[in-house]
Amino acid sequence: MDDSWDRLHAAWADVAQRPIRALCEDPDRFSRFSARFDGLLLDYAKTAMDDGIRQGLLALARAADVAGARAAMFSGAAINTTEGRAALHTALRAGPTAQILVDGRDVMPEVRETRARMAAFATALRGGGFHAAGGRVTDVVNIGIGGSDLGPAMATAALAPYHDRPRCHFVSNVDGAHIHDTLQGLDPKTTVVIVASKTFTTAETMTNAATARDWMAREVSEPGAQFVALSSNGAGAAEWGIAPERVFGFADWVGGRYSVWGPIGLSLMIAIGPDQFDLFLGGAASMDTHFREAEGQDNLPVMLALVGLWHRQVCGYPTRAVLPYEQRLAQLPDYLQQLEMESNGKRVTRDGAPLSRVSGPIVWGAAGTNGQHAFYQLLHQGTDIVPCEFLVAAEGHEPELAHHHALLVANCLAQSEALMKGRSMQEARAIVAARGLAPDAAEREAHHRVFPGNRPSVTLAFDKLTPRRLGQIIALYEHRVFVEGVILGINSFDQWGVELGKELATALEPLLSGSEGAEDKDASTAGLVAFLRR
Ligand code: F6P
Repeated sequence: MDDSWDRLHAAWADVAQRPIRALCEDPDRFSRFSARFDGLLLDYAKTAMDDGIRQGLLALARAADVAGARAAMFSGAAINTTEGRAALHTALRAGPTAQILVDGRDVMPEVRETRARMAAFATALRGGGFHAAGGRVTDVVNIGIGGSDLGPAMATAALAPYHDRPRCHFVSNVDGAHIHDTLQGLDPKTTVVIVASKTFTTAETMTNAATARDWMAREVSEPGAQFVALSSNGAGAAEWGIAPERVFGFADWVGGRYSVWGPIGLSLMIAIGPDQFDLFLGGAASMDTHFREAEGQDNLPVMLALVGLWHRQVCGYPTRAVLPYEQRLAQLPDYLQQLEMESNGKRVTRDGAPLSRVSGPIVWGAAGTNGQHAFYQLLHQGTDIVPCEFLVAAEGHEPELAHHHALLVANCLAQSEALMKGRSMQEARAIVAARGLAPDAAEREAHHRVFPGNRPSVTLAFDKLTPRRLGQIIALYEHRVFVEGVILGINSFDQWGVELGKELATALEPLLSGSEGAEDKDASTAGLVAFLRR
């Protein structure tokens, strides 16, 4: 039996108390514990990893046959075994000459045809060639949830400097407040509604879509003409009355949380235009090639995955914080929550056997520097250790505000340095001494100023948040999740854990709106139904 995990646990027992700052005293540490690709730099020097541990982690990847699993994914094999499907989001960004066979049929002609239809539609809509009842389209509302919202919403916000045409809005929550507040102020005669749903059955999306159609019908005689569907369920979209020329389909081998590259990305394509969207796809495709070709420690997705496994499965840290020092990536933590937690938050292996180790981590975070003034207190002095993953660009998009950017970058670097170095009791005493307190009070106060340090972090640095770079960054995380899943033996492409709540919600809804009693429910749920029923 392979003993790679045991060796890593033993290595951790040996080095847990070794200060990371001591490792970083080696001037070669940065060059030896970072990896680059194109304009991206992954620095993992501020972790406890040393050469031996890295070798041990790479051995883990070899033992799990990550290379074989990767080849299977790119080839279109049905690696999503519980749903009997391929996981081929990479096909959506594959280059013009790619050929990918699924069940013996090349899927690329269809992918390219849909992409061309999307581009024609986006161009018409952006240029005024598409006429809404009131003329040129001013606003686009994407209605979708989960992967049908988080990807396009995050990417559209991230690429705001490239956004030049209709305003794009995103409605996801079934809370009527979301659609109400979004539609308020929009003109139905110049608004296009995109219903984004792979299944075209998701309750939240279909409820919001019906509300939007009613809203539009009040002022537009043919509201269906201003609706677009993005779905794998063409029949569902047709039944809903959306004409085939405005239905953009995709195959079931595109997972919801991996779908921004195809039709689900239409709102982004409308926002930034087909040419910039192509650059976004090109970035992701270049990361795919890097992932397939780069060896061992030069491979960014592999190394990011190994750092993740090291922190979660070996060191035992339950969460990881994603901290973009880039306001336009403020939605990245939400996006990664779905990508990582829906993919690897699982308690059984591909074969249905109990997972022999802990599942993927809890992912959370917020944009820096805002987080610094909210939860960083715990990161620095709490009793839990949270590995932090910083993202930062060398350059912003506002040259006239370069002084803001310098401050932003300084804060990002200061945080990872502070987490690593900490502040000793001796240093704390020296600071407090200057205040001239009585010895007892000074000693007490010094304890509050101690930072334990030795808290690991990685930094993903890049030149500038362009469409190409964003494509690379998202694809990097997708492949990281894949590698972690393969090593853990998880099927990262299904999501059975979301089903039970959906079923129960369907049964509860009539209890809340009708007079039927909730006697069959447990005491807590019945009590809450009684209180909340109107
Ligand atoms: O509830 C989970 C989920 O199935 C996600 O995986 C998916 O991204 C989301 O719901 C939305 O699904 P759909 O695109 O089919 O509306």
